[in-house]
Amino acid sequence: MSIGLDDVIAAETVLSHVDGEAGRLIVRGHDLEELAGRVSYEDAVALLWEGFVSLSDPRAALGNGRARAFALLSGLAPRLHGLSPVEGMRLLLAALPDAEPDHAPLAVGAAAVAAAMAVRGAQGLPPIAPDPAAGHAADLLRMLRGEPVEEGDAKALDTYLVTILDHGLNASTFTARVVASTEAGLLSAIVAGLCALKGPLHGGAPGPVLDMLDAIGSTDRAEEWLDAAIARNERLMGFGHRVYRVRDPRADVLKGAVSRLKGRDNRIAFAEAVEEAALRVLARRKPGRRLDTNVEFYTALLLEALGVPRAGFTPLFGAGRTAGWVAHALEQAGTGRIIRPQSRYVGPRPAEAA
Ligand code: ACO
Repeated sequence: MSIGLDDVIAAETVLSHVDGEAGRLIVRGHDLEELAGRVSYEDAVALLWEGFVSLSDPRAALGNGRARAFALLSGLAPRLHGLSPVEGMRLLLAALPDAEPDHAPLAVGAAAVAAAMAVRGAQGLPPIAPDPAAGHAADLLRMLRGEPVEEGDAKALDTYLVTILDHGLNASTFTARVVASTEAGLLSAIVAGLCALKGPLHGGAPGPVLDMLDAIGSTDRAEEWLDAAIARNERLMGFGHRVYRVRDPRADVLKGAVSRLKGRDNRIAFAEAVEEAALRVLARRKPGRRLDTNVEFYTALLLEALGVPRAGFTPLFGAGRTAGWVAHALEQAGTGRIIRPQSRYVGPRPAEAA
């Protein structure tokens, strides 16, 4: 028995493959490095959805999805008061009916609209309507910031969204597949995926990465601070992974994307120094564990550089990953088989309990 289901194969998929020993991510037959920064998010979504959802004009389909979602969701802006961005996003997505037609592009459009609305709503700011003709990443950033977006920033977010599009049977994707297997509906599967993503051991890590960098403060304190954190039995955010035993390939793709943004050199140099110290501390304190940098470390630097508030990092992750959840939910639904594992009962038997 494996408590964390480490070695259990629970699905066959054509969507993506994580090779944890080689540090390689394959999406629909392509290495991540062939896609991120080279094809737009819209085209990457169309590639991922091949055979599940046909998009003749992916940019228009997602633009239309954003516009339809805004029409359905904008009236809920007052309800966001007092909620964190990820809670607000969860509320908004939960408000969408499962029976909406053309639900796959609607789900991705809604995730972008909901992420931006929820980040603004948490700051008491009103929602910004989408521009259906714009690129998905550029429009998401504009809806979030409420002002025009420079091409370089839009490109960096586009690279991020492609990088986190899909990633095997991670916790949120598995959750989405379980819900889809009950035929609950696509949007229900997406809401469930977001709920699983929210936790700090999964998609909730990048905000705490910046908190950790703040607490460390300066390069010369890094090793001592990190060592003390491990001594307190804390986990270093942005390090370790259930599948990767080497460096997560997404880390370098995102490090490259943030390096191309202007004015980030000092911040990147500091982060690199902390990363090196963390890897030394982990190798010393957790020998044999093979813990390395994961996607969240440079996600944090990238989203910080784009001016996204920390509490908005997980909603943006969810906005990008929704297309992956959609594909997995449709693939799972196609099997026609409910996911229903078994547990081993270790409680008392009735005679013993009496
Ligand atoms: N810092 C310190 N120790 C760690 C870390 C870490 N980041 N990650 C794992 N370990 C330790 C565990 O405490 C455990 O040690 P022990 O056996 O002495 O108790 C050992 O390494 C086991 O590790 P794994 O089995 O490889 O880890 P697991 O698969 O259980 O957890 C996880 C993976 C949850 C990602 C973990 O590495 C972690 O908590 N990382 C920090 C949070 C984080 O960055 N999350 C984002 C992950 S990427 C993503 O989901 C998008």
